[in-house]
Amino acid sequence: MKNIVRSIALIICCMIVMTSCTPAKQGGQTQGKNEDKIRIGMSFDSFIIERWQRDRDVFVSTAKEYGAEVNVQNASGDVEEQKKQIEYLIAKEMDVIVIICADSEELKDSVEKAKDAGIRVIAYDRLIKDSPVDLYISFDNAMVGTMMGEAFVNENLAGGKVLMLGGPLSDNNVEVLEAAFIEVMEKNNIRILDTVHAEGWRAEVAAEYVYNNPRLIESADAIMCGNDNLASQVVHALAENRLAGNKAVVGQDADLEACQRIVEGTQIMTVYKPVDKLARRAAEYAVMMAKGEEIPLEEAIIIENGRYEIPYVALEPVSVTKENINEVIINSGFHLKEDVYLNVPEQMP
Ligand code: BGC
Repeated sequence: MKNIVRSIALIICCMIVMTSCTPAKQGGQTQGKNEDKIRIGMSFDSFIIERWQRDRDVFVSTAKEYGAEVNVQNASGDVEEQKKQIEYLIAKEMDVIVIICADSEELKDSVEKAKDAGIRVIAYDRLIKDSPVDLYISFDNAMVGTMMGEAFVNENLAGGKVLMLGGPLSDNNVEVLEAAFIEVMEKNNIRILDTVHAEGWRAEVAAEYVYNNPRLIESADAIMCGNDNLASQVVHALAENRLAGNKAVVGQDADLEACQRIVEGTQIMTVYKPVDKLARRAAEYAVMMAKGEEIPLEEAIIIENGRYEIPYVALEPVSVTKENINEVIINSGFHLKEDVYLNVPEQMP
């Protein structure tokens, strides 16, 4: 793994507490560069996966509370388009640009250009390799992989066989997550029969795999899916072969349908990543950066992204199963009880 965590808690001079970043009055002027409104550019890979709309909404509303405006761009999964959109945001003289990269290897030049123009850059959720970003904020993606692996161990699958249907390796999160997952498999003598990486996170790739590999599916005890959207298609394909519920399936994101599958018994777990917290924190940091304030980095560690040492804030994910879904997903307000138990109302607590 290139981006090896150097793991030194950052104790730097920048101990300014978040309270110094109090919201500006609605519609009020802020202390941005030119005395005008703070402007944040946000460049998304795409909105196909359920979570990203939530990331956007919370980020935009938090930024607004602080008197900033957000220019949201959607590259629809096309990294060349994303490069153009970042150029546009640079030309529009944003104070800060927040990037959810479509490809972890491809945006270093775009980040350099933004930095040359005096714009601060935040890599959001996905690392941008070899680039001088000011901050990388995400979840602990290794922990996501460990939790997926442990879910299989808890199902007594030690010594068993699994398939790994993951996201694309162009997303650095995939590499990190899978390395941690594989470690749990090795420790517990679980064999990985085959591995697939769905380009562009396209869920059809996972479904096609299930249709085209009946023998492997038959002999696997479990299927690790890179996220809940892939799991959705996998469970659908399994159901067509009357296998849904017979293979232990895991995913991540706590998409509504995944939570429904958990209470119905066709998926054993998902990893809940509190994206509201991530988006809020990122928006607060973006506003502080725009004001020229140092952000409070006591919680950050320093990682190496190939070429630069950058601060990384990693939020904790939570493993969700039938046992704790009410507490983690419903009580937190992430999804409504009626929605999660839509297809099995008799089980509703
Ligand atoms: C994110 C996942 C998401 C996936 C597809 C990954 O980088 O960490 O939460 O499901 O991208 O958008």
